[in-house]
Amino acid sequence: MLRTHTCGELRPDQIGAEVFLCGWVDRVRDHKGVIFIDLRDRWGRTQVVVGPDAAAETLAAARAARAEWVLRVQGTVGARPEGTTNPKLATGGIEVVCRTITVLNEAETPVFQPGSTDLPGEEVRLTNRWLDLRRPAMQENMFLRSRIVKIMRDHFDELGFIDVETPMLGRSTPEGARDYLVPSRLEHGSFFALPQSPQLYKQLLMMAGFDRYVQVAKCFRDEDLRADRQPEFTQLDVEMSFVEADDVIGVIEGLVRRTAREILGLDVPLPLPRLTWDECMERFGHDAPDLRFGLEIVDLTDLAGESDFRVFRGAVESAGRVRGIRVPAVAERFSRKDLDTLTAVAVEAGAKGLVWLKCESGGVWAGPVAKNLTSIADTLRARLGCEPGDLALIVADSFEVTCKALHTLRKRLGAELALYDPKAMHFSWVVDFPMFARDTESGGWASMHHPFTAPRPADLELLESDPAACRAVAYDLVINGSEAGGGTIRIHDSATQEKVFKLLGISTEMARERFGFLLDALRSGAPPHGGIALGIDRWVMLFGGLESIRDVIAFPKTQKASDLMTGAPGPVETKQLVELGIRVLAPPKPVGRASEGD
Ligand code: AMO
Ligand code: AMP
Repeated sequence: MLRTHTCGELRPDQIGAEVFLCGWVDRVRDHKGVIFIDLRDRWGRTQVVVGPDAAAETLAAARAARAEWVLRVQGTVGARPEGTTNPKLATGGIEVVCRTITVLNEAETPVFQPGSTDLPGEEVRLTNRWLDLRRPAMQENMFLRSRIVKIMRDHFDELGFIDVETPMLGRSTPEGARDYLVPSRLEHGSFFALPQSPQLYKQLLMMAGFDRYVQVAKCFRDEDLRADRQPEFTQLDVEMSFVEADDVIGVIEGLVRRTAREILGLDVPLPLPRLTWDECMERFGHDAPDLRFGLEIVDLTDLAGESDFRVFRGAVESAGRVRGIRVPAVAERFSRKDLDTLTAVAVEAGAKGLVWLKCESGGVWAGPVAKNLTSIADTLRARLGCEPGDLALIVADSFEVTCKALHTLRKRLGAELALYDPKAMHFSWVVDFPMFARDTESGGWASMHHPFTAPRPADLELLESDPAACRAVAYDLVINGSEAGGGTIRIHDSATQEKVFKLLGISTEMARERFGFLLDALRSGAPPHGGIALGIDRWVMLFGGLESIRDVIAFPKTQKASDLMTGAPGPVETKQLVELGIRVLAPPKPVGRASEGD
């Protein structure tokens, strides 16, 4: 036995006990010949004291010890002298008076000190992830993740769900991203695709009669990365038979409530608010709105059509929209430079410009285009609800552009003006998504969720007559403006499935070739079914109040989808390529270990 206690365990009621501790040297201080070593492990930190009367060997070891050395310490638990207790530390009431020190391992001077609050850039942290993971904050994140996953597993286990593993090597499952491909050695020119999600497997498990499935599933998507996206991430994947949307939503609401209570001590009232997709886009310009604050979008199209302002009339005449938000009580505070910045933000989001109007005393508008709007000045103010001191921001463009620009402005202003408590949690559902959206590249229809999503029964006819108007039985869980989960009721008859494939430009032959097994299974007694997948990484990030998904993943990838620690992806031996029957068009670039930032 190397240790009797952990570094987070000892308390004043153990004073006098003989103990062995093991851990890393967090800090060493020599205070007038008395050496203090803070010993750290995943449980906490304990102060070890080596006095001048300690054995010569012990003193020598204490003097030699450096940051991140691994020690085994034998000693007696003592009370800290008066005035030296540390109420911030769980072990702050005691110290271990050291008799012997065994150096279990030395350490080279670390690139950074895990015990320090002075952090290097993320590139250094990711390159030396083992050191970064020694930091108490990172350890807390990993424990939080583990606790949240345990709550999820318990919840579904208690509800009678079965955990089934589905393959990593399979056929492509379309979720809208690019696949990661794995070449076959035995069949040159053939490839497996790593799953973008276990979507088809879980549906087949329903057809196989398992009724309630859950899996903590790794998913792979080769897509543009952002702060809340990783190429390899984890879903809590769920599927249920003989259910309607409300049944799936109910199971997840139970989990939300339980997680909030156990992790944050928060009481989340159920049912959670629900918004339709249309309402979201009208009021917030986005399908995962942050509802912790207002700044709602107001439609001004009808007023704009009556104005003499060229920009507004132009948008209305080309079937666009004019919409704006009221930002209360900032007119005096926002300088011309601030407003130029907001204009640049709107333009970056696709707008052609931004109308800003300051509401001054007496309700008079001020701003570069105020004079063009005199005919609608009063109605505009009433519609926006502006009072003296408020600012109005208006965009005229297609509906999509007004959504994107105003959503971006809203999000930025909400954070910048601290319009919400960053610790507050807001949960809601967005429902009734459109089945399809226009694919910007091909101009054809693309699934908003995935091609296996069922249309609302009442909209079945619209599949052929007006696909744009067809709504899906789809529901997204939104936490603080982040899409934390998404699911749908599935198509469970092959005729509708074939119809949807056709609409998506998948020919009968192609559907047969790629999804023949699904169509066959749908024809062999498929129960009505539906499900959802929660983004576990995002859940942990949101419940932990963290900014980056990389802080809740032990070994994450950079924005450029590389692992700075191992150097993956990296070149392979020519022999391996020959075995796989692969010739690389461009010579592979060597991927340096710390060659890229994030
Ligand atoms: P969807 O594609 O919406 O649905 O994914 C479900 C949830 O997974 C999370 N997520 C991600 N998290 C981190 N990095 C990523 N790149 C990433 N992509 C998605 C999000 C998202 O809400 N098969 C369907 C689910 C179903 O219909 O049951 C699916 O995968 O939190
Ligand atoms: P311009 O006539 O293009 O110089 O634009 C006059 C003002 O209207 C400027 O303040 C622009 O930022 C703004 N503007 C131009 N186009 C739009 C638009 N589509 N939506 C909102 N504001 C716009």
